[in-house]
Amino acid sequence: MPRTVRDVVFVDGVRTPFGKAGPKGIYHETRADDLVVKAIRELLRRNPALDPAKIDEVAIAATTQIGDQGLTLGRTAGILAGLPQSVPGYSIDRMCAGALTAVTTTAGSIAFGAYDAVIAGGVEHMGRHPMGEGVDPNPRFVSEKLVDESALFMGMTAENLHDRYPSITKQRADEYAVRSQEKAAKAYADGKIQQDLVPISVRRTDASTGETGWGLVTADEPMRPGTTLESLANLKTPFRVHGNVTAGNAAGLNDGATASIIASEDFARENNLPVKMRLVSYAFAGVEPEVMGYGPIPATEKALAQAGLSIEDIGLFEINEAFAVQVLAFLEHYGIADDDARVNQYGGAIAYGHPLASSGVRLMTQLARQFEENPQVRYGLNTMCVGFGMGATVIWENPHWEGK
Ligand SMILES: CC(C)(COP(=O)(O)OP(=O)(O)OC[C@H]1O[C@@H](n2cnc3c(N)ncnc32)[C@H](O)[C@@H]1OP(=O)(O)O)[C@@H](O)C(=O)NCCC(=O)NCCS
Repeated sequence: MPRTVRDVVFVDGVRTPFGKAGPKGIYHETRADDLVVKAIRELLRRNPALDPAKIDEVAIAATTQIGDQGLTLGRTAGILAGLPQSVPGYSIDRMCAGALTAVTTTAGSIAFGAYDAVIAGGVEHMGRHPMGEGVDPNPRFVSEKLVDESALFMGMTAENLHDRYPSITKQRADEYAVRSQEKAAKAYADGKIQQDLVPISVRRTDASTGETGWGLVTADEPMRPGTTLESLANLKTPFRVHGNVTAGNAAGLNDGATASIIASEDFARENNLPVKMRLVSYAFAGVEPEVMGYGPIPATEKALAQAGLSIEDIGLFEINEAFAVQVLAFLEHYGIADDDARVNQYGGAIAYGHPLASSGVRLMTQLARQFEENPQVRYGLNTMCVGFGMGATVIWENPHWEGK
């Protein structure tokens, strides 16, 4: 049977506000799967033209797939969200690039013709499921020196990356972090972020009185507007004595969920759904696990080569800020200035937080908004570093591009 590859588009994306992990965090008493359910319901609410019965798949990522993040989340969250029972679902894991992989994997299936429309997203409740919970790394990794021991600790891999790029100093990382906070604060003040947030009702128990109450979360908890170079200068470097990586120039430990609608362009147009971005190419690459932060570079090389594009063709970048050093290594590789206006226009994970497997769709949702605002830009890129030495890149075309 002859098959034709079909164009795939990003229809819409939403996310919960991100919270700080831990007992004081806004989602401490909220289940991870309920965060996903709220995101899916919001997608359906704001896209009434999408008949839920026409959704062919629900792919939801989580890094720690146990407890309320286990049980084949795509399927269980679909049922909990009220999707017809005929809609199947599954779970995905590529650590930080989980949601990104949920998008690319289902996009490949859409291009092949297996699906018309899907929901793809991710969740990480790092308060309920701290990084490394329940893992049992094979002792051969270390005994046979397959990887350096530091490969398992993301903060240490960031310190290793500073070693590889001596020109990326703590000062530069801190300056980058301050700018991320400033841009995020401005994006909030300009109302850019709120439009894709799902308000979440949460239960909170007062530790001293034991009293329980309810609240509504409408904004990201981790943001620290007003961060200055001075306030970052003397923070501890928890991953190395006299190191470079601090709580101020790294993303934190966070809770949150994202969800998106991905569809064939024909299906989107026939069903009067928005077309916010058109998929051009995607690629993943492996690097030395102990310096996982440079993974975005080979992944981007592959994605650009597939698309027949060069880095100069990319007009907007949404790069995950797991650590400032990792973004700076990417920018340095391509000769892009640390404060280039094309990069993370709304700030990044250093300000908003990085609930691992959810973050990829946050990057996409923000890029989609920037496409709308920048019709002079044709191509944009999302890229992320991934634990255990990987990088992930997706290139999108702006459907609002006015240069045709
Ligand atoms: C870096 C890390 C260990 C810090 O954890 P933490 O100590 O719980 O972080 P906190 O939010 O309590 O911040 C630590 C201190 O820095 C301060 N701080 C953090 N950000 C700040 C900012 N922007 N400005 C000023 N002070 C700041 C806090 O107020 C706190 O101060 P205190 O100790 O006086 O209370 C943790 O966030 C981490 O592991 N991040 C990386 C996550 C990761 O690996 N993700 C995967 C990527 S691949």
